[in-house]
Amino acid sequence: MCGIVAYTGPRPALPVLLSGLKRLEYRGYDSAGIAVETQERIAIRKAKGKVSELVKLLGESSDLETSTCGIAHTRWATHGPPTQENAHPHAGGKQGIALVHNGIIENHRALREKLSSVGYVFLSETDTEVLAHLVDSLYQGNLVQALTNALKEVDGTFGIAVMAHSEPGTLVVARRGSPIVLGLGEGETIVASDASAIIKHTRQAIYLDDNDIACIKGSELDIRTLDSGTVVRPASEIDWSADAAEKGGYEHYMLKEIFEQPEAIRNTLRGRLDRDRGNAILSGLGLSPRELSDLHRVLIVGCGTSMNAGLVGEYAIEDFAGVLAEVEQAAEFRYRNPIVNPSDLVVAISQSGETADTLAAVREAIDKGALVSGLVNTVGSTIARETGRGVYLHAGPEISVASTKAFTSQVSVLLMMALKFARSRRMSQEKGRRMVKEIEDLPSLVEAVLAKNDEIAKVAERYVDQQSAFFIGRGYMYPVALEGALKLKEISYIHAEGYHAAELKHGPIALLEESVPVIALCNEGPGKDKTLGNVAECQARASRVLGIVTEGDEEAIATVDDHITIPACPMHTSVIPATVALQLLSYHIARLRGCAIDQPRNLAKSVTVE
Ligand code: G6P
Repeated sequence: MCGIVAYTGPRPALPVLLSGLKRLEYRGYDSAGIAVETQERIAIRKAKGKVSELVKLLGESSDLETSTCGIAHTRWATHGPPTQENAHPHAGGKQGIALVHNGIIENHRALREKLSSVGYVFLSETDTEVLAHLVDSLYQGNLVQALTNALKEVDGTFGIAVMAHSEPGTLVVARRGSPIVLGLGEGETIVASDASAIIKHTRQAIYLDDNDIACIKGSELDIRTLDSGTVVRPASEIDWSADAAEKGGYEHYMLKEIFEQPEAIRNTLRGRLDRDRGNAILSGLGLSPRELSDLHRVLIVGCGTSMNAGLVGEYAIEDFAGVLAEVEQAAEFRYRNPIVNPSDLVVAISQSGETADTLAAVREAIDKGALVSGLVNTVGSTIARETGRGVYLHAGPEISVASTKAFTSQVSVLLMMALKFARSRRMSQEKGRRMVKEIEDLPSLVEAVLAKNDEIAKVAERYVDQQSAFFIGRGYMYPVALEGALKLKEISYIHAEGYHAAELKHGPIALLEESVPVIALCNEGPGKDKTLGNVAECQARASRVLGIVTEGDEEAIATVDDHITIPACPMHTSVIPATVALQLLSYHIARLRGCAIDQPRNLAKSVTVE
């Protein structure tokens, strides 16, 4: 949520800052700004809207082009609407300090009052400006000291980059709950809130830990913790290339990521299936055979799409392993004081590894003594590090705000988990081998759906003008209905709800009419006939029904009004091709409606506030 990029080194800072902001725009895109050092002062430029607006504004400022040190930000508004005044960077005092911030300063009101009473004038409604003035008020020639002292007074979360005019070429950065990564170049350092902004320049990166503060000048680094001395944080290599974060000829990142799914799933599965033993190898889970067989319950936490994937995990773990499993919205888990036993495994699912509510649930579960593991895509992210054990998705960077390939990789891992837990209990080797084969088939099932892209685009044309839609399914298709509805509303702004097919008649059916279509997951599997019965109920209320049906299922095809076929496969694996079909459907509907697919309004890729 929000993006930070900063540069110190021998090169002009502006191009590095602007290209970094472009990369980070998917994290927040309602306003953007930069601050760069000049001889006389720190120059700040900010614009409402996308980074392109800032670029236009800077077109008129050739005096900034030679600066070699600066900070930049793209914002997702929390405190105060997206205006130029509220955009970052914020100046402290009389512009001797400039600061950008991700996160939330919870005690900003009290600090604002205190600073106002000693003469500070506020130009914005943000919590960040409070921080800038606070640093200024404590500044006595040493920026590290001033920021350290300021952060002692602050409650909340932050990723910060700050510069002072009297310390040229120097950046001070700090983090608590909001990521900061340092990209190590030749005589230079590129700071960012996410590795995609630095990958173009270097693959060597240091991820700061919570409560770290770093002073950076060119390539000289001094990293400390906020309450003690210098620490050493190891550099690691970013294992994906700059190309992975490019659109690669696709019109949108979302479409590219949908099409990357066969490869992403292959990467997720690589080296993790043992055909001979009919088992999954998930050594990162770090569970001893004893812990595996003692496992009492699996609690799955996540938000948004990751939570929907978790629901598939709940079904599969209970279905195959006979282990109690429950999925829970991560924020709820933290605040409702759940019962957690030491023999429970808590699985935190997160593409970004930074979602505030999921992270808080992880911490709560650790405090309650559970075994906690992460199912995370972003290597080195906070959830990956704090859980210390888990399974990386290896799906590659996901840029589009609407999550696609992360979901199918998450489901792939959850199916492997179900297999592993099942094999440590009653599942036979033979059944295990069959399940390995079914999981290995996933990439080709996705390829078969992708091959129907043009057909799906045609079907989408019939659903472009609706204002509301329902998605229904049963069993494994219920989470798919939730995810299908989430995708459609996220990117097309059509109001969409996912319901259990049986639940529709307990209320939502009151809303059905000609202009409210129903997307029914009625592919082969247990419950299909009942869902077809529900389809008839919807048609009887004049709703047009689009069915996701199994290839060759003439009965289902004849029942629904429109259809998209997916290949025949078991219900638990059909989650993936069925979801891919709905991703493409949403994509084409949103494209035909002219929506900003990769950056939908009001959303952010990584939600680091509660
Ligand atoms: C945001 C994104 C969603 C995502 C959710 C959880 O709301 O827009 O696409 O599913 O956060 O993100 P995570 O990174 O934890 O999977």
